[in-house]
Parts: sequence; structure tokens; C-alpha cells
Amino acid sequence: MGLLGSAGYEFVLAPMELLWFNRYRERLMKYARGHVLEIGSGPGSNLRHYPDTVSCVTALDPDEAMLKGLERKGRRYGYGPNGRCVRTSVGFGESLPFEEESFDTVVFTLILCTVKDPYTTVREAARVLKKGGVLIAMEHETPGPLPQRLFFGAIAPIWRIPSNCHLTRNTSSMIDSIPSLRLRSSGRWGLMLGKPFYFRVMERL
Ligand SMILES: C[S@@+](CC[C@H](N)C(=O)[O-])C[C@H]1O[C@@H](n2cnc3c(N)ncnc32)[C@H](O)[C@@H]1O
Repeated sequence: MGLLGSAGYEFVLAPMELLWFNRYRERLMKYARGHVLEIGSGPGSNLRHYPDTVSCVTALDPDEAMLKGLERKGRRYGYGPNGRCVRTSVGFGESLPFEEESFDTVVFTLILCTVKDPYTTVREAARVLKKGGVLIAMEHETPGPLPQRLFFGAIAPIWRIPSNCHLTRNTSSMIDSIPSLRLRSSGRWGLMLGKPFYFRVMERL
């Protein structure tokens, strides 16, 4: 995210937040509870959607500027010394610095397009999730229909420049392939674009 920074990222994403993401964040974060780990938290766009059943949020991101933005946002939404706890950790989804079965909820939104190794990141997410815990994902991937797939393929090299976002990955199947995760809820959207956006709510067996 280096080129954009925390405020720049939010500015660029604002139209899509209004159109889609914010609605889905609100809907999905209702599944969160207990101690939440957010992988690739960015500037904390999910923070305000966590219900009261969430006691603490640990936000992990390799970009310290993003985590600073998240701390500022957290203060605005009642996290901090007098509110719900929020912790930050500089790190990568591919090698989470946490013990197995440490979290009640693991969240990642819009990161599997960016991380170096999405499959390892998903496996790590399942590893640190407690049995009976919930994994919440909101992502995008290559669209199914050919015209949109060709279009995404054509613009992918330019799209990748500002934020290293890969438009042509297939990541939902990676989540679905983890044997210790059972599907609770899923959906897709973005009809005109060939429905590249998807969500998953999974339970750790
Ligand atoms: C597109 S932003 C998404 C931010 C936020 N999750 C959201 O929903 O708006 C991608 C985030 O992933 C982070 N990131 C990049 N590589 C990563 C990695 N290997 N592991 C974890 N996070 C990573 C970036 O720093 C950035 O904050």
C-alpha cells in the first residue's frame, strides 16, 4: 500500500465503500465475537462494525502507517484505554506470530489479492482460529464470465501498480479447500463486472 498511505487508500476506496463494501462489512462483522484477529487490517474500516460481543481486536498489517491510521480510527469508535481493547502487530498473513487456536474470530477483507501467498495466508488464518471460532472473509477474484475475465486480465498489470492488487487470482476455492473450515454462509456480487466480489463465513471444526 506504500504508494497510497492510509488516508490515500481510504480516499481511493471511498466510492466502492459507498456502493458495496460498507454494506457488506456491516452485515458480515455481525458474526464476530470475543477476541478478533484482523489480518491485513489496513486503516481499520471494519472497526466500527464490530458488535458488542467483540471484546478485543488485534490488527496485523505489514504497513505501520496503516496501523497508525487504524489506531486513530479506533479512538474515534471507542477503542482504547477506556473502551474495547485494540492491539496492533506488524507482520504478514503468511506467518502469523500467534499460537494455534488463539482467536475466537479471524477476519480478512480485501487482502488475498495483495498478499504474496494467499493460500498460506488462509491456512494460517485457520491455524490460529479456536475450534468453533468463525472466519469472516470479504474478497474479490477473477470473474467467471469470459468477457469480464478478458477485461480484468487486460487491466490487471496497470491495476497492480498503486497497491499490488492482483485482479486475476482465484481465491474463494482456497478458502473452501481448507478441511478444518465448514461453510456457514457465502455470497457474490457485482453483476456488471461478472460478480468478482465474494464473502465467506466459515466455522472452524
Ligand atoms: C487492499 S488493503 C485492505 C485493507 C482492509 N483489510 C480493508 O478491508 O480495507 C490490503 C492490506 O493488506 C496489507 N498487506 C499486504 N501484504 C500483506 C501480507 N503479506 N500479510 C498481511 N497483510 C498484507 C496491506 O498493507 C494493506 O493494508
